[in-house]
Amino acid sequence: MTKRDFLSLRDLSLAEARQVLALASTLKDEAKGSRLQTLAGKAVAVVMEKASTRTRVSFEVGVAQLGGHPVVLTTQGSQLGRGEPIADTARVLSRYCDAIVFRTFGTDRLLGMAKAASVPVVNALSDDGHPIQILCDMFTIEEALGRSVQGLQVAWIGDGSSNMARSFVEAAELFGFHLRVASPEGFLPPAEEMRRAVAIGCASFGGDARSAARGADVVNTDVWTSMGQEEENAKRVAAFAGWTVDDAMLAEVADHAIVLHCLPAHRGEEISDAVIEGARSRVWDQAENRLHVQKALLMFLMGAA
Ligand code: CP
Ligand code: NVA
Repeated sequence: MTKRDFLSLRDLSLAEARQVLALASTLKDEAKGSRLQTLAGKAVAVVMEKASTRTRVSFEVGVAQLGGHPVVLTTQGSQLGRGEPIADTARVLSRYCDAIVFRTFGTDRLLGMAKAASVPVVNALSDDGHPIQILCDMFTIEEALGRSVQGLQVAWIGDGSSNMARSFVEAAELFGFHLRVASPEGFLPPAEEMRRAVAIGCASFGGDARSAARGADVVNTDVWTSMGQEEENAKRVAAFAGWTVDDAMLAEVADHAIVLHCLPAHRGEEISDAVIEGARSRVWDQAENRLHVQKALLMFLMGAA
């Protein structure tokens, strides 16, 4: 059987994504103490080349809850920090583990891991995408609004060139909602990705933040400076001045609109304290749902669903 990776939203059909979200719903409904043993006897490597709180803990706890054994490796605590090639790491981990969850920098490293590994590889964030977060966010949107995400108007306000925004564009195509991306000049997704989304009709790009938010069912934002871009921080803070998602910006959203942020947040930069703590915010459910959806995805990829 060919192994199944999850490197981007394109690695799932809509039917498969729906299967994973439905399974996540069942897992979430289980009492907190109850445990399936679907990954009993299996080990999952969680390899982190960048910092992580939510992704690391939710995968580690999720694998344990399913009866599996999670093994967390960080750059500094492993031979990756001393330059061991990704392909060698992939082949060795595949001899011990049944899946690899990988957070890294460039797509070359992600693809290098997936190509050399003989077990499923899950993208746990790279410079170019954060698909697992967005898959989980589909669950949170549908849970919060009590309806399918298909046909919704979703606003992305802030860094449209970020990993989060680019995976959101892929989600719009897969799940059939409309994404409006509003970003300061120079911070939209790569031209080819925009062309494709515009041709399909699943996203529009440009314009001001208030227009993007007008009538939206969901508003998303993320940090202005992503991991790996720290040297650009001063330039980015200046370029994004005035783009804070605050109550004024949200004045004309739909009455039922919710606000999401994958966290960690820089309050006062991309989002105001009042909004993240406000009635529309679903960020804590969003963080919790990482656990349920990721457990479901691992079960699906590892043939245990
Ligand atoms: N949202 C998210 O991926 O958080 P961490 O960086 O803490 O894993
Ligand atoms: N865009 C952010 C997401 C963090 C979860 C980053 O890459 O740092």
